[in-house]
Amino acid sequence: MNASTIVIVGAGQAGAIAAAELRQQKFEGRIVLVGDEPHPPYERPPLSKDVLLKPDATRCAIHPDDFYAQHAIELKLGVAADAIDANARTVTLTNGETLAYDKLLIATGARARRLPMLDALGDDVYTLRTLDDARRLLPVLQPGRRVLLVGAGVIGLELASSATDLGAHVTVIEQAPLAMMRCSPPVLNRHLCDVHRARGVVLHLDAPLERAERANGDIVLTLKNGTRIAGDAVIYGIGVEPDTALALAAGLDVNNGIVINAQCRTSNPHVYAAGDVASQWNDASGRTLRRETWENAKDQAVTAARTMLGIAPEANAVPWFWTDQCGLNVQFAGDMAAPEWIARGSLDAPPCMLFGVDHEGALVAAITVNQGRDMRSAKELIARRARLSRDVLADPQQNLRALARGA
Ligand code: FAD
Ligand code: APR
Repeated sequence: MNASTIVIVGAGQAGAIAAAELRQQKFEGRIVLVGDEPHPPYERPPLSKDVLLKPDATRCAIHPDDFYAQHAIELKLGVAADAIDANARTVTLTNGETLAYDKLLIATGARARRLPMLDALGDDVYTLRTLDDARRLLPVLQPGRRVLLVGAGVIGLELASSATDLGAHVTVIEQAPLAMMRCSPPVLNRHLCDVHRARGVVLHLDAPLERAERANGDIVLTLKNGTRIAGDAVIYGIGVEPDTALALAAGLDVNNGIVINAQCRTSNPHVYAAGDVASQWNDASGRTLRRETWENAKDQAVTAARTMLGIAPEANAVPWFWTDQCGLNVQFAGDMAAPEWIARGSLDAPPCMLFGVDHEGALVAAITVNQGRDMRSAKELIARRARLSRDVLADPQQNLRALARGA
């Protein structure tokens, strides 16, 4: 493997981490990292937060600019992979170049799901996935501007927070009965909605869109219940779709993402996948799961790189992610579908925590609100499926680190 070529398609979080891990593990062959965006690989979490709030002070590059040259990683930016020939083991790029590979990593991530009804309005309609998308929002999120946010998921609520901080008037329109339903339990979601409302955000829940039009220079959205809402701009975040076109055309197994096993191998022995684009077999749930988180992209990238080199990857038993909104740093670990949640402290007076317990009384999830220092211990307890009494879980005097050491 040592004198061979590894091509990585997608120069985002997973692609950049995988390239670095290959060199970290002393791979001496050729590494080509192909990205269709013009920027060197960067982190996306700041795009809805500091890139909007502190644009001049925020750097989101994953590695220093000279990292790629120093580590002999050939970075091809502003050019997309157009086709994979899995038999010939080549990737064709949109500039006509053909790259031969011994191993290929597909790390093409995901794209914002489109809502044709809104796209049809033309100007003043935005989505947020890339650095360029975020920069386009800077002139939109201005004091006094009426911003309509469609979708109260992670993106919608983080944008509601940033836009309000910047002085915009924010209205959020969500078709589900609660915000953040994909990835967070109702007890927290209800609270986050209250926090946003207390900051002046107008939140329409259970409110499917019926119509979008322009009237007298405004954008006007009509809800199914007849409510009409006028604004200066619409930003929508209604979920993402994995970028699987290349994989499908190359004949790989795809099922809501490129299907990979625990080692990030696809159905083709020379092709691997990692990050938002990948749907990984999960023993615990007996199905494939696609995760859309920073940590997952990093972990799968490291796993894919190590597997390519024949090094056993480490398993991460407890998935983790975070969101920052309204001055709250909220971290989530484990199974957000836990049937019972026990509070330690009050959501109204953070720091506080929520513990998720399953039907057998085992700890399967935890959420920290401005209490990230306890997340590591919580993850250790979740990994062991610790059984702690409800009183112990609810008692802030019970030191979590001591419990993690002793459980
Ligand atoms: P991406 O980062 O999307 O990278 C994929 C890259 O591949 C892109 O540059 C894409 O343009 C490129 N590409 C696609 N097709 C091709 C092709 N054919 N040829 C060449 N290049 C191609 N996660 C958290 O845990 N916490 C957060 O707070 C958080 N905040 C977020 C905020 C925002 C605004 C966004 C958008 C995401 C956030 N995430 C957060 C999610 C996290 O950023 C993603 O899970 C992570 O970026 C996924 O990494 P990836 O490498 O799989 O995909
Ligand atoms: N009208 C209103 N709301 C809608 C519509 C619609 N037509 N379609 C979907 N929604 C709502 C969903 O009910 C959900 O609450 O949009 C929300 C989408 O939430 P997420 O799935 O969290 O997606 P999004 O907020 O777009 O985030 C996309 O960014 O931060 C990352 O990891 C995150 O991958 C995720 C990505």
